[in-house]
Amino acid sequence: MKTVSLISELRAQVKAWREQGLTVAFVPTMGNLHAGHISLVDVAHKHADKVVASIFVNPMQFGIHEDIDNYPRTMADDQQKLTAAGTDLLFTPTPEIIYPKGLNKQSFVEVPNVSEGYCGESRPGHFRGVATVVCKLFNLVQPDVACFGLKDYQQVQVIQTMVEDLSMPITIVPVATIREKSGLALSSRNGYLTAEEKASAPVLQQSLQWLAEQVKSGFEQNDSIDFIGLAKQAAYTINKAGLHTDYLHICQAQTLQPASEDDTQLVILAAAHCGNARLIDNVQVNLI
Ligand code: PAF
Repeated sequence: MKTVSLISELRAQVKAWREQGLTVAFVPTMGNLHAGHISLVDVAHKHADKVVASIFVNPMQFGIHEDIDNYPRTMADDQQKLTAAGTDLLFTPTPEIIYPKGLNKQSFVEVPNVSEGYCGESRPGHFRGVATVVCKLFNLVQPDVACFGLKDYQQVQVIQTMVEDLSMPITIVPVATIREKSGLALSSRNGYLTAEEKASAPVLQQSLQWLAEQVKSGFEQNDSIDFIGLAKQAAYTINKAGLHTDYLHICQAQTLQPASEDDTQLVILAAAHCGNARLIDNVQVNLI
């Protein structure tokens, strides 16, 4: 695998592939890679001839109280994993390359509606940072396809909406979440969990699964479903296990608006603090 940091090197390689008629899939990451990221690379290979990954810890998506300096950076290990997964090119720009004028003078991309609420509310400015860097990386790599993990369900909706609204000629491929045996979704943030916290953390996914079953059985029995009441019960169980629920909502799967009785494609979105880690997870519920 070739690693490049300069935009000119990235563009030259992608241009050479294009001249040979090859297609390109892209996997953007912030590094500290785990099996979830590698599954994105595996899926990317199925969609294009060449796979480009990027590692860039994007300062624009971190809030003022979020510690970007302590975000885990494991470049050598990441390079090994990407090489083993058959990645063709790794792009590792510096913040100066991505934001040469500095963050305050940088144009940005704001995606309305789906960016609001949930993680958008708990982390103001986060999705502006994500949309802006992904837009910029898309313009640099110019992929045919880009793969994103469904653990960050709201992020996938934000990027899908941006691509549609701005007519970007890129297919977004959502990729299923990879989990530990316990059900805990793989995340770079799991590294912040103590052994005790790691034992409690699966309650998040278990409670979402319980909630999904309640919604499905209410629908099958034609009962009126108390979305808010059920969500409160699930949050109670999560908090009782020692986590602290940030939000937990049952939403329409595309718009992310609160679910109503008429919706049949739903997603349950949740975030909870567990020790020093803020975990997010979700479950999709298709009623027909
Ligand atoms: O999901 C992530 O790791 C980041 O939000 C992304 C998409 C690489 C943008 O920085």
